[in-house]
Amino acid sequence: MPLIVETIVTTFNSKREAYIAPLGLIHDGTHWIIAPFRPSTTLDNLRANPVAAASHTDDVRVFAGGVTGRKIWPLLPTRSIAGERLADCVSHWELKVEKVVEDEQRPRFLCSIVHEETHKPWQGFNRAQAAVIELAVLTTRLNMLPPEKVESELKYLEIAISKTAGPREEEAWEWLMEKITAWRQARFDQTTS
Ligand SMILES: Cc1cc2nc3c(=O)[nH]c(=O)nc-3n(C[C@H](O)[C@H](O)[C@H](O)COP(=O)(O)O)c2cc1C
Repeated sequence: MPLIVETIVTTFNSKREAYIAPLGLIHDGTHWIIAPFRPSTTLDNLRANPVAAASHTDDVRVFAGGVTGRKIWPLLPTRSIAGERLADCVSHWELKVEKVVEDEQRPRFLCSIVHEETHKPWQGFNRAQAAVIELAVLTTRLNMLPPEKVESELKYLEIAISKTAGPREEEAWEWLMEKITAWRQARFDQTTS
């Protein structure tokens, strides 16, 4: 299995408006690959402007926000590409697309790092942060997974939250739980109608 790093990717549309989305960047040994599913704004933007910034942040609210409609976060200009990165991040990569491998479901944009910068010290591993990222991914697959699997994974992830979360992790968790509650309600409505 290739290494995948979960990042916040900033891209630009043809009007030069920034767009952020959490994405897992895949390492193939030479390139970092951005692989957006069709359809997606990130995919359209990479075709319009083949550059991206990947921000490594310990504020997991940006990941939770990215899948719950909270996509506006402070950005700063990048140095070597015409782009923007998260203002609050530990470090970031500036990426240029070198090659595109087309695919019906998930085209792959093979990128090189043209610049990287560190902005503040990394504060160490936190289980609640990992749990938020896992739940954020899970919420993008709610209608693809068996409901029992969603519920059992949620039960496991809650342990890390109850034992190790700080205020930012708790807030991120709440946003994701609102999405889970809406999904549970929709399932209930379906079975009772
Ligand atoms: C940690 C994490 C990793 C993700 N990785 C991917 C990815 O590699 N490809 C993808 O298409 N969506 C991924 N997603 C889901 C997208 O962030 C989400 O669907 C987003 O809205 C993308 O669509 P957009 O570019 O239209 O916003 C990921 C979500 C999370 C929370």
